[in-house]
Order: sequence, then C-alpha cells, then structure tokens
Amino acid sequence: MSVLIKNARIITAVDDYRADVYIEDEQVSVIGNDLQMEADTIIDAQGKYLFPGGIDPHTHFDMPFGGTVSADNFETGTRAAAFGGTTTIIDFAIQTMGKSALEGLDTWHAKAEGNTAIDYGFHMIITDMTGNRMNELGMLVDRGITSYKLFTAYPGVLYMDDGMIYNTMQKAGEMGALICVHAENGIVIDEIVKKAVRDGKTAPKWHALTRPTRMEAEAVHRTISIAEVAGSPLYIVHLSSSDALEQVARARDRGLPVYAETCPQYLFLDLNNYEHDGFEGAKYVMSPPLREKWNQEELWKGLKTGDIQAVSTDHCPFRMSDQKILGKDVFTKIPNGAPGVENRMSLIFQGGVVESRISLNRFVEITSTSAAKLFGLFPKKGTIAVGSDADLVIFDPNRKETISVNNPCTHHMNVDYNSYEGIQVKGFSETVISRGKVIIQDGEYVGKKGDGRFIKRGLLSK
Ligand code: URP
Ligand code: ZN
Ligand code: ZN
Repeated sequence: MSVLIKNARIITAVDDYRADVYIEDEQVSVIGNDLQMEADTIIDAQGKYLFPGGIDPHTHFDMPFGGTVSADNFETGTRAAAFGGTTTIIDFAIQTMGKSALEGLDTWHAKAEGNTAIDYGFHMIITDMTGNRMNELGMLVDRGITSYKLFTAYPGVLYMDDGMIYNTMQKAGEMGALICVHAENGIVIDEIVKKAVRDGKTAPKWHALTRPTRMEAEAVHRTISIAEVAGSPLYIVHLSSSDALEQVARARDRGLPVYAETCPQYLFLDLNNYEHDGFEGAKYVMSPPLREKWNQEELWKGLKTGDIQAVSTDHCPFRMSDQKILGKDVFTKIPNGAPGVENRMSLIFQGGVVESRISLNRFVEITSTSAAKLFGLFPKKGTIAVGSDADLVIFDPNRKETISVNNPCTHHMNVDYNSYEGIQVKGFSETVISRGKVIIQDGEYVGKKGDGRFIKRGLLSK
C-alpha cells in the first residue's frame, strides 16, 4: 500500500518545511518537492500541518484497580487515541505481588494482542523484586520492556519500600533501563486520609486535600537521591505541582539524568474542579490530585524550558454511573484515575502553541519525540524521516472544536464523561496514518482492530 501526501507543512522537533511525502511498506520512503509518483492513495495536505504521530507514554487500558477495571480496553482506548492523533501508546503491565513479572507481561500481551488500532509497548509495574526475581528484569529487557514503574504511593497495593526501590534502580541502571516513579509519600498520605475520614471529611474533594504537594515533592526528592546513589536514570510520571517540579529542576541543574512528564489534567484543570455540586468532583479523583491553579503556569514553564520532557495522559477512565459511584459514601473508595487519551494533542496544541507558550517544534517534541527517545522508540517513531515508520497526523491548525460527550460529540473514549467538557480548542487531528495505513480519514475511523502491533522497545537513547 502506498500513500502520497502532497503540499504538507512538515513539522518535527527540529524542522519546519514544505514538501511531499511518499509512503511505502509502512515507512516514509521519499520526502521531496513536487513528487510525481503514483500511489494507491493521494492526500492533499495544503494548509495543514504534518506531525509525527503522537506518542502517549502513560495509559492504563483494561487495568484492575480500585475494586474495578478501567473502562477502556485496548480496542476502545487505542481507537480513541487514534481519533486524537496518537499513533503509539505505552501501557502499564502489572506484576502481581508475589508472582513473576513475566507472568504479568503475558497477561497484558493477551489483553492487547489483536485488539489495538495503533502500535503499543508496555512498561512493567514492579511490585516485588526479592531474591531471584531480579533476573527477571534482564528477561524483560530482552522482551522489549525497558522501563519499570515503581510506586511510593498506594501502600498495600502497589507501594514499594525504599530498599526495594534502591535494589531495582541499581539493576535497571546496570542494564540501561529506565525507572519511572509515581512519587507521592503514600505512608504519610494514608495517615492524613485516616484522620480526615475519622473527622467525617468524606466528599471527593478530600481526596485532593489529603495529598499535599509537599508529599509529592518529598517523594520526588527521595527517589532522585536513591537513583543518584543507585546509578540509575529516573523518569517522574504524572508530575503535578510546582513543588515537585522544583526538585526535578534542581536535580537536572546538578547534571543528573532525571526526567519528568506532566499531563493535560494538571495544565487545564485545578482544585476548583472538586467544588462541583454533589458527587461530580469524583470525576477528578486521580493521584496525584488536581492542584491550585497557579501550579499550571509553572508546569508550562517547565515544558518550555525543558525541565519537563513529555506530556502523557495517565489515561485511566472509570464511569461515573457504576464505577466512581463505588466511593459515594467515602472518597477513599472512588477508583483513582481519569480519561484523556483522546484529547492530549489538541489540548497541548491549544494551551501550548495557540496560546503562545511553546513553539510548534516544541509541541512535537513534548507530544512525540521526547517519549520516543526516552523509551527506546526513536527514530522508528517520533519523527518524520526517510526510513521512519509512517505514523503521521495531518492536523488542521484552524479547526475549532468544543470538547464534549454531548452534541456535537467529539468523544470516543468508553466512559460517560470527559474531564475537559466544554473546553474550546483550535487545532484538531484530521487524518491519521499508522504505519502507512490511513486509520482516521477526515475524522472518521477507517481502521480495524488488530492494525496495531506490539513494539519491542530499545534502551534509553542518551
Ligand atoms: O489516579 C491515577 N493516576 N490512576 C492511575 C494509576 C496511576 O497511579 O498512575
Ligand atoms: Zn501513578
Ligand atoms: Zn498512571
């Protein structure tokens, strides 16, 4: 199958130029001026941007959590991602406590294989690295799983103590793998939560008010220090606050290989979202929680200056009707997480490029290229170059939409609300190409489940 894209304005993390792009055998094969080549499909991209497909390095599809399972599976979640201009996701497989990490990986492969609209990889959530299990990390690298998430939050569920964090980091450092950390001091937070519940503070907003930014910053600082001693690079996931960012910036100033991602929810939503009537605040129960609004501008600054490298979504949706409602009597029972995989590209284009906070090149870098480099996908993914996978987005910079589950509906995620309901964006994905196949054509899904492939990732490109 061949595709010729005419008159594109090609934007990568470093380039901005006009040319035609010829795609053959799933890859970009020729880039040049006024190409006169025959193709099965010819697309005129006049007036549009051509971006490398978005890479969302943080999703949770079909994930058992909080007494239920996240509402998007690999079919619905990756299709929604495609609608939004994302052509690769990296999801989190989970090692069950006391069991082999490889068994956990097999479980996630079975969930995803043959079901996805776009390409995918896995990180591994490590919960138990005692004794012989350490050898499993090397086996994971051989299988293309080159990053591991460790939790300082959720004691008794996914939490790992500092000793095990240190040992896991040391092994990852030796291998050149990347440690990702969910940084919140779960032990202290649990004490604050217990007191709040004893005092009858049970509404959704108390989820946020019991998780101070200082407890995020503490865990960021601590895990940076442990990683430094262990000799491991470190990637902080879903960084939400200025306090936490300050710790990352200090470490980077000292020359440490410390990286961070933030998410659209921390750039567009804030503590006031918990003040909605009744149980509405449950929509925004996620960890870390939404913060005071002033943090948003600090995070944008981090994205601009380079202290934050990437924007992921931490997409982890739960329906209000029968999932979030599990916590109607007390916020501790509300499943943690929110949807967003579909909205990331347009939101970051709006907040970043349209509102003049970042350049077009930086937009591509934080939505695609950086994740490709950090997670061993570059240059196959994350750029537009001869030989790269033809994962491409034809993006209309002038199309205005109001994000909504209602009429007119922009929403394809399998969940009964959108965190960004009513937010207006300028800039929308129009046509999406995944490894040379058009899967979204003028806003319609024309792909099929199983189009996506598992990608064995390499090690961190330094
Ligand atoms: O609330 C969240 N973030 N849920 C998903 C799991 C995680 O911690 O990333
Ligand atoms: Zn997390
Ligand atoms: Zn997550």
